[in-house]
Amino acid sequence: MTKFEIRQQLTLVRKEKPEPDTLEFGRVFTDHMFVLDYTEGQGWHDPRIIPYQPITLEPSSMVFHYGQTVFEGLKAYKTPAKDVVLFRPEKNLSRLNKSSARMSIPPIDEELALEGLKQLVSLDREWVPEAPGTSLYIRPFIIATEQYLGVAPSKNYQFIIIMSPVGSYYKEGINPVKILVEKEYVRAVKGGTGEAKTGGNYASSLKAQQEAAASGYSQTLWLDGKEQKYIEEVGSMNIFFVIDNTVVTPALNGSILPGITRDSILQVLGMEGIPTEERRISIDELVEAHKAGKLQEAFGTGTAAVISPIGEFLWEEQKIIVNNGEVGPLTQKLYDTLTGIQTGTLEDPFGWTLTLESPADEKIEEITTF
Ligand code: COI
Repeated sequence: MTKFEIRQQLTLVRKEKPEPDTLEFGRVFTDHMFVLDYTEGQGWHDPRIIPYQPITLEPSSMVFHYGQTVFEGLKAYKTPAKDVVLFRPEKNLSRLNKSSARMSIPPIDEELALEGLKQLVSLDREWVPEAPGTSLYIRPFIIATEQYLGVAPSKNYQFIIIMSPVGSYYKEGINPVKILVEKEYVRAVKGGTGEAKTGGNYASSLKAQQEAAASGYSQTLWLDGKEQKYIEEVGSMNIFFVIDNTVVTPALNGSILPGITRDSILQVLGMEGIPTEERRISIDELVEAHKAGKLQEAFGTGTAAVISPIGEFLWEEQKIIVNNGEVGPLTQKLYDTLTGIQTGTLEDPFGWTLTLESPADEKIEEITTF
């Protein structure tokens, strides 16, 4: 029993599920979605689960013009016992509200959103893939829906959750990626929106990413927006280095995304007694550490990317090859520990996973065919 009334309208026609070995990132979507509306004066209302379908918006809807939108990314996994588990979902919902606060979007009730999320995943639980390295990626997002061309916070919004069975984010899988250190463009500055998960941060990164890809690099590493000296984050990940047996990651400074995987890795390292430092680290320090033979490993962390080893950085025509371009031992161990906890093959000493119950059939009101 829950205190929230979430209407469910189910599809009659279940879509065909992709073969596990064909899964890419974010290309196919499950049978249902969760929707919640916001109307000024009324607040958030009408929570519902409906068949996955197009949304109809007028061209004057504010999201199309000024980008007032926020999003999240989290995952559901299937355990060996066939339970479906979510990984730290409450963290994503609270970060969504923090992003919303920066973007002048009214906060959602995190308890209601979690209940909607649990019911949605439960309903589409057959879509949670089981093969190693696969999961169900969950994308909650909010868009400004008022029809108005003035620059002002929208009076209406929609909060939607869609889901996609995924394989690895990078085509390299767990193999090391090559990263170009960006010199020309910047991602964020202090006081900007770097800390928020909002579409504009990603739209403005595309140009640099395209240029990196043209030179054979998977992603860009962003330096700070003021001096272009200090390392911030990679396009879709936070970044870690192993330097002289200490794990170093840039401190959260207002322009870096506070990653939930980043936080999880810091906690796992703490539990293992491995020294960590959250601090400013300059690109010059990285170059020097490499020259001195002290740069042992580098990896990125993110929900989509999980833990992605980095085998090479390109900085001012200089190639920094890390661990001979191979997966480092600590990176591999962290990958195994984190994915083990997430998929239930290892014990979860942190209480991070939330096991779902089966769908509540009695809540079905109406059957629809799409
Ligand atoms: C995630 O890791 O979930 C992200 O949101 C990164 C990305 C795919 C934009």
